[in-house]
Amino acid sequence: MSYLNVGEIRKDFPILERDVKSRKIIYFDNAASSLKPIQVVEAIREFYMYEYSNIYRGVYTLSQKATERYEDAREKVRKFINAESFEEVIFTYGATDSINMVAYSYGLSNLREGDEILLTVMEHHSNILPWINIASMTGAKVKFADITSDGDLDYRELESEITEKTKIVAVTGMSNVLGTIVDVKSIARKVHEMGGVILVDGAQSVPHMPTNVKDLEIDFLAFSGHKMLGPTGIGVLWVRKDLLKELKPFRYGGGAVREVDTERVEYLEPPHKFEAGTPNIVGAIGLGVAIEYLEKVGLENVRKHEEELTKYTLKRFEEVEDMIEVYGPLDTSKRGGIISFNLKNLDSNLVGTLLDSYGIAVRTGKHCAHILHKKINQEGTVRVSYYLYNTFEEIDKFISALHEIVDIT
Ligand SMILES: Cc1ncc(COP(=O)(O)O)c(C=O)c1O
Repeated sequence: MSYLNVGEIRKDFPILERDVKSRKIIYFDNAASSLKPIQVVEAIREFYMYEYSNIYRGVYTLSQKATERYEDAREKVRKFINAESFEEVIFTYGATDSINMVAYSYGLSNLREGDEILLTVMEHHSNILPWINIASMTGAKVKFADITSDGDLDYRELESEITEKTKIVAVTGMSNVLGTIVDVKSIARKVHEMGGVILVDGAQSVPHMPTNVKDLEIDFLAFSGHKMLGPTGIGVLWVRKDLLKELKPFRYGGGAVREVDTERVEYLEPPHKFEAGTPNIVGAIGLGVAIEYLEKVGLENVRKHEEELTKYTLKRFEEVEDMIEVYGPLDTSKRGGIISFNLKNLDSNLVGTLLDSYGIAVRTGKHCAHILHKKINQEGTVRVSYYLYNTFEEIDKFISALHEIVDIT
């Protein structure tokens, strides 16, 4: 059963027509970055060709129109995640940048010696290293909640780790290795009961399932444009409105101030206060168009389509059951379209290189998740990750390639 008209969708992604190693490309590396539809590429081209100027700097028409486009994109993001107001939506350079911003803007002012920052062993380095850095600057301690043997988050352990000392919990919305979807809302409730705040790293969840920040009851959400059909170099940090007052800017410079004197600086109101320097104007516009595209298709449908692809893959993996080890929950209602595995005892890079000879693009190695790989006791894994343009036929070709790799190695 198909929830999307994938045939039509694929026409918007010309790169899917190209060959790699004399075979039609199969792009299964969407967790690293997604492909871009013509609509996004064209919008960027048009803007550069006919509409380009800097924003907020000019009284002239072009600059005012560019400013409108930039702010329209912000409004699209606001609606997309059901944020209360535009002030809560800060454009950044990506999820990593957004998380660093929270670490510096919130963490640095609010953490003291003896405080705790709670992460999970599933986090991407981008949601670990900013916290290790801030902990070293403040004397706070970083703790890691564990996963269960079937690759789900160990909620019982995590909840028991949340105490009055826990000032910040930073957790992924979806693991970039195991695909595990995290029940963020239940964690948010517990964190708030204890007086802390919660940041969700939505780099993998926001592109693939509906996200409603109000419903999730969270405080911060970070995500990247390039993993959701948008350009690189643009990301979002959403901050709950009442926390905005407490936040100090992370970057200082032009565009973020109302008045500067030798004695005194008056900052603009959020979100502009946090966007010093010329922002990624074109990136924001491209992200706005990507969001339009995703909304037209429907995030609920994207999620269901990927769940079907995942179910099908796990079923077909049974054919090489003795040769394959799959990581993460087997229950597809608990995981997104990210599947990491190892074949026989083969090095993941070797399997990735062999798959490339079939035109299949996968990610190999530790996927910026060294702690998790240590936990599952693997030097690396092969990861396939799906998106709205992937098909069951592509999975068939991938499974045939796996059979051949098993036979020749
Ligand atoms: C879960 C997770 N968090 C954060 C990031 C970092 O995203 P970016 O490189 O776009 O800043 C990634 C990228 O793969 C990710 O998978």
